[in-house]
Amino acid sequence: MPIEKSAVPAPSEGESNASPRRRDWAAGALGDESRKALAEDAALFLHQSVSTPCLSVITKAEGPWIEDAEGRRYLDFHGNNVHHIGYGHPRLKKAIAEQMDALPFAPRRFACEPATALARKLADIAPGDLSKVLFTTGGSDAVEVALKLARAATGRFKTVSFWDAFHGAGFGASSVGGEQLFRSNLIGPLLAGTEHVAPFACYRCPYGYPETDGQPNLDLCKMTCANMVRYVLEKEGDVAAVIAEPARAVPFVPPPGFWAAVRQACDDMGALLIFDEIPTGLGKTGRMFACDHDGVVPDILVMGKGLGGGILPIAAVIARPGLDVAGDYAFGHYTHEKNPVTTRAGLTTIEIIEDENLVENAATLGAYALDRLHDMKGRLGVIGDVRGRGFLMGVELVMDKAGKAPAADLAENVLYRCLDGGLSFKISMGNTLTLTPPLVVTRDQMDLALDVLETAITDAARAAGLG
Ligand SMILES: Cc1ncc(COP(=O)(O)O)c(C=O)c1O
Repeated sequence: MPIEKSAVPAPSEGESNASPRRRDWAAGALGDESRKALAEDAALFLHQSVSTPCLSVITKAEGPWIEDAEGRRYLDFHGNNVHHIGYGHPRLKKAIAEQMDALPFAPRRFACEPATALARKLADIAPGDLSKVLFTTGGSDAVEVALKLARAATGRFKTVSFWDAFHGAGFGASSVGGEQLFRSNLIGPLLAGTEHVAPFACYRCPYGYPETDGQPNLDLCKMTCANMVRYVLEKEGDVAAVIAEPARAVPFVPPPGFWAAVRQACDDMGALLIFDEIPTGLGKTGRMFACDHDGVVPDILVMGKGLGGGILPIAAVIARPGLDVAGDYAFGHYTHEKNPVTTRAGLTTIEIIEDENLVENAATLGAYALDRLHDMKGRLGVIGDVRGRGFLMGVELVMDKAGKAPAADLAENVLYRCLDGGLSFKISMGNTLTLTPPLVVTRDQMDLALDVLETAITDAARAAGLG
């Protein structure tokens, strides 16, 4: 029976890719050719939230910049977190071209040098003794592998994860994810045994504890968010794994000691700890992995996105050797598991990150940018919170600092003003401007972006009679 159109709820205004503010922007920003191209794109592709229908047409991506068909350049402070080394890095393009000539593909049952070299490199840079690797084509697939591995290794099937988390679009990933968008009843029953707890989010503590300047008051809250993970692990008694982003991409950084407490709870209850570092891995937070800030080693780490250098799709699961328990079965059987071109891209990307000191750049320039954003917060009444680590930064907009009511319309207005000023980024959770620049951004580019941002927030707040 054909699906009735009415079974699909209408997208809510302001949050979808069809908001009135976006239509206003498009009316001024898009010429005839762009409109025609967008109409064809919308006619050809399945529509879904935050992609099709698309915003604009991209014709060029180079370094930290993207350029649209109208010739407008934007500093890309979103980049889906794939562009750590900037777009189109010449050294990466050369390595990919040479690899295509040397060996363009390897069927999965054959070993090849680039795949082995990348696996060795990942074992070198990964925390602790994580060293057994499996490659997939995308992050969502890598999450599925991690979940299956946890089941196989523990003989258990339940998981604990965070509300509001995103772990990918597969059934397993959607089940452990905590965003309504990916868990709707349209896709039917999700995996059984996927428990969720409220995440750390100190500025908006789900348990209602007060904060000061976004920092938790641990004497009061006693880190209830970490205790709740232990509580669920103890009540269930047979959880296979806790899966989470060590620094949440919204962003929110964990309170000090959070991951040590969760690691201990996992160890006490025989559950594995899986860190999803798909957006945060490879230097985004100013350390090679976000969990390095916390000194906590997971049992399984998943990475992707930036690993392909902003050109090719590749993701990886890396586990401690003791978890290599299912050699007679196959749950990561992806066609491109040993692809020499994507693995060469991964290896070269990491070498570029190391040789160009990009992790250090994210640490020092990220600290500088966060200082500037804190300074902005002191001057602008609509900035409720500034948070982040390295090049994972968030600016949460509110109607007023005391009441903290989320200013979602304002955030959208700021976004379109920034696009007009040449800066692109993403809004998370409705009112958080999420800035994730590529690790190659320079001080001048950072200053330019923050100047555009401050002007946009100031003007949009004034126009809305706020702050
Ligand atoms: C935390 C996290 N996990 C998993 C994924 C899924 O990765 P992919 O889009 O490569 O499937 C994403 C993608 O945005 C992500 O941010």
